[in-house]
Amino acid sequence: MTDDTEPQQFPLPAILTYPSSKTPELITQGAEGRLYKTTYLLPSVPCALKYRPPKPWRHPVLDARLTRHRILSEARVLVKCRREGVAVPAVYAVDEAAGWLALEWVAGAPVRVGVNEWLRRRRDSERAAGRGGDAVVTGDAPGDADLVALMRRIAGALGRMHKVGIVHGDLTTSNMMLRPWGEGRERPANGHAGGQGDGLLEGEIVLIDFGLAGQSTSDEDRAVDLYVLERAFASTHPRAEALFSTVLESAYREAFKQAPIVLKKLEEVRMRGRKRSMLG
Ligand SMILES: Nc1ncnc2c1ncn2[C@@H]1O[C@H](COP(=O)(O)OP(=O)(O)O)[C@@H](O)[C@H]1O
Ligand SMILES: [Mg+2]
Repeated sequence: MTDDTEPQQFPLPAILTYPSSKTPELITQGAEGRLYKTTYLLPSVPCALKYRPPKPWRHPVLDARLTRHRILSEARVLVKCRREGVAVPAVYAVDEAAGWLALEWVAGAPVRVGVNEWLRRRRDSERAAGRGGDAVVTGDAPGDADLVALMRRIAGALGRMHKVGIVHGDLTTSNMMLRPWGEGRERPANGHAGGQGDGLLEGEIVLIDFGLAGQSTSDEDRAVDLYVLERAFASTHPRAEALFSTVLESAYREAFKQAPIVLKKLEEVRMRGRKRSMLG
């Protein structure tokens, strides 16, 4: 038998030797949960803690089961993506009974923020040059190369995710981050677009928020993923809607073998969407 004062017989795993984390900072409060910025193991390692609090309006047993299920499902999908080389945050720890998931903190801003700021600046400079700044972005203006390059990187990231058998289920420009290049994450050789480049749209696409994701290789599911993003893009960044659809198609097509079939499905899904909106 050993007593407490004796040195450890075996070296302790690191998790048992580090000091505890700092006070969490609330980043977002969504319908389903809260996202805190905190640290993991070391005060210098930032961490995103996704917490799903109990819902008092749901039956407690059902609520606990749903929360457990969703957290485990999100963790499982993230681990799979990471293992297969899709850029997503690492899973540090998970406590599905307590309702939280500790993830690698992704530096940078959501794509939505970068795109909105970029569009705002573009409009301002168009106006300053005496042109109407609210025209549709066609991708032909000299500075538009950066936006087209970003859209291509988004399509590439989705293609890689779909290729490994994951569908996201909630693709929006808020659910993808633009992580600055660096530390083993080099800008791809053809990654520099040669646009006016204020760096707003620079960075690696990191997909996040896999709470509604699942394993699927169905072309219909993949097409719905693309359609959801297309609609989200249209409502968040209407001036770049048409450009997005065009670039998405051409870049996604190159991402994996099955892609042309998915894009054919996408046509059908769009058609259904149009019919539905006509019926009102
Ligand atoms: N791993 C992460 N690193 C940095 N920020 C993150 C991370 N995960 C989420 N966020 C930020 O928190 C927001 C909400 O997280 P998300 O996973 O999308 O949850 P929700 O289901 O509430 O939308 C994201 O839009 C992003 O700004
Ligand atoms: Mg989200």
